[in-house]
Amino acid sequence: MLSIGAINIPSSLVLAPMAGISDLPFRMINRSFGCELAFTEMINAGSLGFRSKNTIKMLATQSADRPLGIQFLANDADALMKAIDIAAEYTFDIIDFNAACPSRKVVSRGKGAGLLKEPLKLQRLLKVIVDHADAPVTVKIRSGWDASSVNAVEVAQRAGDAGISGLFIHGRTREQGYEGAVDRNVIRDVKEAIDIPVIASGDALTPHHIRRLFHDTGCDGVAVARGSFGNPWIFRETVRYLKTGSVPCSPDTDEIVLTMKGHLEANIAYFGEKTGVLRFRKFFRWYTRGMAVKGLKIMAFRTHTRDEMLELIEEVRTLQPSPDMQTARQRHESGKWNPDIAPPRCGRLRAGESPD
Ligand SMILES: Cc1cc2nc3c(=O)[nH]c(=O)nc-3n(C[C@H](O)[C@H](O)[C@H](O)COP(=O)(O)O)c2cc1C
Repeated sequence: MLSIGAINIPSSLVLAPMAGISDLPFRMINRSFGCELAFTEMINAGSLGFRSKNTIKMLATQSADRPLGIQFLANDADALMKAIDIAAEYTFDIIDFNAACPSRKVVSRGKGAGLLKEPLKLQRLLKVIVDHADAPVTVKIRSGWDASSVNAVEVAQRAGDAGISGLFIHGRTREQGYEGAVDRNVIRDVKEAIDIPVIASGDALTPHHIRRLFHDTGCDGVAVARGSFGNPWIFRETVRYLKTGSVPCSPDTDEIVLTMKGHLEANIAYFGEKTGVLRFRKFFRWYTRGMAVKGLKIMAFRTHTRDEMLELIEEVRTLQPSPDMQTARQRHESGKWNPDIAPPRCGRLRAGESPD
């Protein structure tokens, strides 16, 4: 059970905020497989202050999309307060503040992970949000700016002093971006240093990785990010794995095809056909990871219409997994996956890959 303010999530698994990914259709697909708490894409507080059309669209939700956190990016109090006031016209349950985004454009403006260099300023901004907002507040940080300035414990303590209700920590430095080892020790140090819930992030790619994050860090929750790409089943599988110790069967081709179609239709209903299909292209690639569909993947990236994409998805149904892939799946299901040896991957195994 993970509790953030008055929000309680039985599974302790969270769908991480992801720019360009965590839109309403994506959240709903993951929720349909057991995700109980999700976050919006990162929302620039300044753009929301101007009521930019694209930014307002990111606040769209529906009754089954709850509890929902929204994530703000900002580095000044006025922009934040204005964004909080506008967001209050919409439905959400948690406000998260981004002090983790590594993008050069973001950090050069003193936002995102740039704030790790200014823990006092970050604390002041968090206090502003806590004082101004009605919802519980969380922050997402990284282990530090670079290997020589790992300061997550200090940052977390200051954030706790600001009165926040939970802290997400991606166990990589800003310098690492999304590559390299996740420092589970620093996540554990943070967990031991503060008395609010700590949600670990970083290489939560399979049920085994997630269990190890819980085990090695003592964290209260785990944020699933790339592990959900084309693999919303990770929520269902992890819940079962944490309960029983065995990984349930991977979805069969029928379920994959049905889910792809549902995701595509949800995208089109939400974005319209042109953008919905465009945004689905990368998901086609992710859903079919591990299948011998190279030609289809190339075609998916040239697809413009719903009918063309549906036709490609239907073709997935006719594909048989290679014998190697079946063996790998069986091993995965038997729990012999060794994340230390296997390269990090999202979702199912590639044909011919072995997990151990
Ligand atoms: C495409 C993409 C977009 C992301 N956007 C955000 C974001 O908007 N806000 C945020 O706090 N983290 C963002 N992240 C970071 C993830 O939430 C997560 O912390 C990171 O991917 C590490 O987890 P993983 O190794 O399990 O993927 C993003 C990650 C990816 C891959």
